[in-house]
Amino acid sequence: MASYSDLANRPVLTQPVYEAGRPIEVVAREFGLNPADVIKLASNENPLGPSPLGLAAARKALDTCHLYPDGGCTFLREKLARKWSMEPGNFVIGNGSNEVMILLAQAFLRPGDEVVFGAQAFIVYKLATMLFGAKPVEVPMPGFRHDLAALRAAVTPKTRILFLASPNNPTGGTDDPADILALAASLPEDVIFCLDEAYTEYLEASADLRPLMMSGRKVVLSRTFSKAYGLAGLRVGYLMGSTEVCSLLNRVRQPFNVNLPALAAAEAALDDEEFVHRTRQVNAEGIVQLSAGLKKLGFAFIEGKANFLATQVPQAEEAFLKLQKAGVIVRPLRGYGMTGWLRLTVGTAEQNARLLTELAKL
Ligand SMILES: Cc1ncc(COP(=O)(O)O)c(C=O)c1O
Repeated sequence: MASYSDLANRPVLTQPVYEAGRPIEVVAREFGLNPADVIKLASNENPLGPSPLGLAAARKALDTCHLYPDGGCTFLREKLARKWSMEPGNFVIGNGSNEVMILLAQAFLRPGDEVVFGAQAFIVYKLATMLFGAKPVEVPMPGFRHDLAALRAAVTPKTRILFLASPNNPTGGTDDPADILALAASLPEDVIFCLDEAYTEYLEASADLRPLMMSGRKVVLSRTFSKAYGLAGLRVGYLMGSTEVCSLLNRVRQPFNVNLPALAAAEAALDDEEFVHRTRQVNAEGIVQLSAGLKKLGFAFIEGKANFLATQVPQAEEAFLKLQKAGVIVRPLRGYGMTGWLRLTVGTAEQNARLLTELAKL
């Protein structure tokens, strides 16, 4: 009798599974800790909590959760259009920006296609590529930084998408906006350039892809409400691109892919400039605090401005375990080919101090 595996689509059989940051409750139960004493610095979440405006809107929206959400995400797309001086038709809203990348892959990739990205780039590019039977082309990252010339050189007639995140997760490195624009402009007209700006709110400047987009080049960008807006648990992100690419992706996505409180929260959070400002400030201070602490401990780390730092610690896997026992969850980077490295999300000053104290005990 045929097994389910015999019947499954071939790429599903070799599809890697995404390894998420370990949840507080799970770690607390495993190590016999009080969940209130555990801190999670493993998934680059916002240590200040959710945007207060977003949270209030989500709570209010729950009163009408017997109704389906607006499948067209009308108001959020209108608001984004105003923010970006674009049209609502230039946006696709996803269940996290993760989803818009999968939609892109689903709409454009077929077996035999190639997708180019850095060897230590965000893992979802590889997952999206493999899921549709396309071939990941992983370009070496010397010193764990993107080599934009090498990315460009890896493009062949088979390349369909090139993914680049700035800052990149998990390394934290950032590329110069002018270099990013030059790369985007240099690509063949049948290669889609996807710039992932999940952490761009933490930077002073980011690349403005709109002129290229409007001139008909195949460039899209993705952003998220999970980081600077503090709405990771609600799952909202978006893609900005030409009206043509957005209309194709809208055919692929589920009718109600973004839920009601999430949609309301994202709409409200877009106005929460005060919260984003405070987030950036606390993060910048946290980067200084963690960098100084790591230097003092003699741990190498990759300098960056996102809300996390990748650091090299002795016996990283054991350290990951010891930190959990002490109620501090971080992320080991072995899965990214960075054995010996941990990724530390920047927390509040108090959380950072606790993390450094525990790291010192290693
Ligand atoms: C570089 C990068 N892109 C995209 C995402 C996906 O975020 P979300 O699906 O929560 O929008 C993440 C999440 O950690 C990320 O690090």
